[in-house]
Amino acid sequence: MKSIAHVGLNLSVVEKLLSNGHNHLHVQDKYVFPPGERPDISQVCDSYKFPVIDLRDLDGPHRIKVVNEIRRACEEDGFFKIINHGVPETVMKSMMDIAREFFEMPVEDRACLYSENPWQAARVSTSFNVTEDKFYNWKDSLRHLCNPVEEFINSWPEKPALYREVAGKYSKEIRVLVLRLLAAISEALGQDSDYLNAILGKHTQALQINYYPACPNPDLTLGIAPHSDPGGITVLMQGDVSGLQVLKDGKWFAVEAIPNAFVVNVADQIQVVSNGRFKSAEHRAVTNKTAARISIPTFYSPSLETFIGPAPSMVDDEHPALYRRYKYEEYMTAFWNQSLKGKSILDRFKIETSP
Ligand code: OGA
Ligand code: NI
Repeated sequence: MKSIAHVGLNLSVVEKLLSNGHNHLHVQDKYVFPPGERPDISQVCDSYKFPVIDLRDLDGPHRIKVVNEIRRACEEDGFFKIINHGVPETVMKSMMDIAREFFEMPVEDRACLYSENPWQAARVSTSFNVTEDKFYNWKDSLRHLCNPVEEFINSWPEKPALYREVAGKYSKEIRVLVLRLLAAISEALGQDSDYLNAILGKHTQALQINYYPACPNPDLTLGIAPHSDPGGITVLMQGDVSGLQVLKDGKWFAVEAIPNAFVVNVADQIQVVSNGRFKSAEHRAVTNKTAARISIPTFYSPSLETFIGPAPSMVDDEHPALYRRYKYEEYMTAFWNQSLKGKSILDRFKIETSP
């Protein structure tokens, strides 16, 4: 009896997942965005190059130069790429390989982790929020918490057999990198290097693997709809298939993949703490016809019980507080309950100014 119910559940979950092994010959209605929200791929600019910051000198006598480059990127772009970041290429490659293996193994081995509850420590999901999404995003994801690794590793996938070992190593390397970046960003804000580290409280680190299958008609749908990331900073490994785009001055720009680089973006909490000085840029991902695309963001965020608001030193008569103070749990509740829509969640935490 129990096993029949189990099979029944898995069958419907298998139908829900895009990575269910079916060959997608056309874009089903639920993935078709309305004309005004489609990506219009021919309008995407590739003329702007997001800054590439070499971290080789971050811990040496030229630190100030690197910190200045980071400041400029956080003020003007909200996105930058990093090279010589210290994460070994072998660790990056093993993570990308195991991510691909995860999404290429028989679907039943993923379907067992499917959940529509975003608060679960580890889950497989599809689109963004299937209870709210009017138009589905063309992606499946695996997401799990990973700091400290030992606390969460038992919730991670058991298959592929090496998953936990590989993702554990990767998560630890990314944490070291993020702590270096947070120190540099704190200094870029004119604060002590420990400033943002202290503000994040106990720290939440979530690893996500986005899987965007090849799509028969990339003009009709989006891999991930426009949004800004809710946390502190995001460190993204894009494989060698591009698809990430950033909104800058009202236009969409492609962020080309560079081998072995990471893409770093400022997320909403740093925009709030910096009182709007550093930008959490709106971004999206498009699909393509020929290849499945995998991207692996690490979202580094405050812990849920942490209070966030503009730093007192960022507020003065000329720069009045733009956001109210709130518990991060309130922010994440708003984030998980929506369907992605630009920077609309951040806007809800703005202080109303009199007209
Ligand atoms: C995300 C995201 C972009 C990408 O998962 O928040 O923005 O390139 N992903 O997959
Ligand atoms: Ni994002």
